[in-house]
Amino acid sequence: MNQTGTVVILAAGQGTRMKSALPKVLHEICGKPMIGWVIDQALSLSPEKIVIVIGHGGEAVREAAMKSAGADKIECVLQEPQNGTGHALQVAAACIDRDQGNVVVLYGDMPVLSPESLQELIEARNEAGPAGMAMLTAIPEDPTGLGRICRDEDGLFTGIVEHKDATDEQLAIGEVNLGVYAFPAAGLLDALPKLSNNNAQGEYYLTDVPAMFVAAGHEVSTGILEDPDEAIGVNNLMQLAEARWPLQIRILEAHLANGVRIEDPASTYIDADVQIGKGTRILPCTVIRAGVIVGEDCEVGPFTHLRKGTVLENGAEVGNFTETKNSTLGSGTKAKHLSYLGDARIGAGVNVGAGTIFANYDGVHKHVTEVGDDAFIGSGTTIVGPNKLGARSTTGANSVVTRGANVGEDEVWAGVPARKFEGAISAAQLKAEAAAKRS
Ligand code: UD1
Ligand code: CA
Repeated sequence: MNQTGTVVILAAGQGTRMKSALPKVLHEICGKPMIGWVIDQALSLSPEKIVIVIGHGGEAVREAAMKSAGADKIECVLQEPQNGTGHALQVAAACIDRDQGNVVVLYGDMPVLSPESLQELIEARNEAGPAGMAMLTAIPEDPTGLGRICRDEDGLFTGIVEHKDATDEQLAIGEVNLGVYAFPAAGLLDALPKLSNNNAQGEYYLTDVPAMFVAAGHEVSTGILEDPDEAIGVNNLMQLAEARWPLQIRILEAHLANGVRIEDPASTYIDADVQIGKGTRILPCTVIRAGVIVGEDCEVGPFTHLRKGTVLENGAEVGNFTETKNSTLGSGTKAKHLSYLGDARIGAGVNVGAGTIFANYDGVHKHVTEVGDDAFIGSGTTIVGPNKLGARSTTGANSVVTRGANVGEDEVWAGVPARKFEGAISAAQLKAEAAAKRS
């Protein structure tokens, strides 16, 4: 009975208040759709399966779910039409096995809930006896719109009343329902067919189930969430923005714990699904998007934007007002100022001068440019892709290396359009001479 058999995620609602054509649960927070955050919550319980109730924009939600972690455990069921949260569970019931332990219900619009709080919910459910259930509540500053928790004179839970159905006296109650429950499978399956839609919204409310447990003489255990951020339910874009920081700080804290030196967390944006090696410094006002991989002892920022597909190998540095996309920078390579690196495959020890542009887009297609080890790209160089700059090659300041010019190894090119300069000393040669003098 201690096992979580099934987690049901309710995600069929339209989310009208988002004022957006995108299904509510597909709105992203820190580079991950809300449904992805809730799937992570579900996975933290190691369930046997996850049932997602889809409806509005169902196909898109299914697609996003199938791309997330734990996709092999996920099953989507269509709720059509959407007649309320209780109806959603009635639809999901076909996927719930009577003797499969606990059923945990999560709402797709509560991305901030932590695995720790869910663990407490499971413990409360197990302590409520084999036929008892547990749920999470909160005491928010403003309970408007939320279901209120009703109790008797002894403080024992009696039921939930939805805002729209509540009397003035009930509206004065500060404790609210969060929509997070742990039921014993059999008790839930027995209660669901008994729901009625005789209420202000004409819907089947899942919130009527706990009172049925009380009526059957079973314990309903309620646990108050300490951290009000975890209770954020995203119904509009304001709440979506509000949910960002509590999730962002968790991501930043995980990197800090791994030895990533983040100078100013408050001005640092790092999405979920970013890898950063230890010893790397992240300087203020930096944005790192999902799918980026940064090695050890790198330096990123200040004011740097690393986009999807960027890989920085150990010791690479990307600095002020530089944007990278789908680009690899080899070990020790530096692009410190005012550059755009798109679809670039750059080797090790390369200097990318201030103001370098990899012009990867011809208006129709994106093109790759390869740069060999120890090349030196002069300030203000524009390289039109597809192109190649050979190992140890040099470009002069402000050169335009036209499409397909393919600069050879050790060659020096300059001008507009850039031409090869026979006999000119390359930056790599200068560097070798300077090193020879020192030793
Ligand atoms: C619900 C609770 C309320 C609680 C609040 C917390 C009910 C009846 N009310 O209200 O007590 O305080 O959450 O945020 O449960 N959904 C479906 N199918 C449906 C209807 C909803 O899948 O037919 C999904 C929605 O996509 C959403 C979740 O269920 O993820 C909650 O629905 P929503 O309409 O936002 O409920 P609230 O009015 O917020
Ligand atoms: Ca809601």
